[in-house]
Amino acid sequence: MVRLGVNIDHVATLREVRHGINPEPCFAAFLCEAAGADSIVAHLREDRRHIKENDVDLLRQTIKTRLNLEMSLAEDIIEIACEVKPDQATLVPERRQELTTEGGLNVVFNFKKIERALVKLKKQNIAVSLFIDPEKSQIDAAAMLGVKMIELHTGRYADSQNSRQQGRNLKQLEAATAHAVKKGLHVFAGHGLDYNNVDKVARIKGVEELNIGYAIICRAVLAGLERAVKEMKLLIQ
Ligand code: PXP
Repeated sequence: MVRLGVNIDHVATLREVRHGINPEPCFAAFLCEAAGADSIVAHLREDRRHIKENDVDLLRQTIKTRLNLEMSLAEDIIEIACEVKPDQATLVPERRQELTTEGGLNVVFNFKKIERALVKLKKQNIAVSLFIDPEKSQIDAAAMLGVKMIELHTGRYADSQNSRQQGRNLKQLEAATAHAVKKGLHVFAGHGLDYNNVDKVARIKGVEELNIGYAIICRAVLAGLERAVKEMKLLIQ
């Protein structure tokens, strides 16, 4: 069965709109786990625009499944990860002005830098996954680094403008998965997956885990709105 990792970054995004304490990401993580999430994903960005160090500490203490910490190759972030010791670290590229993680980590270009990060993280027994584009050269470089798992960036597939383009991008994901499996890698996938496009990716033979955030949080807002209004109405009557 394909596992589901739920990314709770945007619970913190909502909190940061008011710089307050609600909604609390740990409580969201608890609810995700209760609903069957297999792991909780959080991205400690260099700009701390949503998840903060304190969130990561609390998540580490409270998560009962697995904490998958997404992070860049920045030295101070690697140091934080080594202290927090998530069950898994997913190395991602990061650019200040981006709205979200745009594109996979260029493993070919950053080979030495990733190698140095891997040494530090492995010393703390942290399993490491690399978030990469579904390209043979990136998969080969990841395998050469000795990582056991990769996450394929599904953004191009998710952003497809028509079914022909989607079909082409799906084929690329299928081929990349088959190639990675042949190389002995565990394959995960994520980014931009939603309630309309997830099924085709979930069916790809060899994909073990999907990491999904934005679509789930969006659905939660709308799915919970009716109840939230009813509860408020009761209180003011
Ligand atoms: N996987 C990785 C590595 C990501 O960086 C993200 C976005 O933070 C996701 C999965 C989830 O993407 P989305 O929020 O679009 O579902």
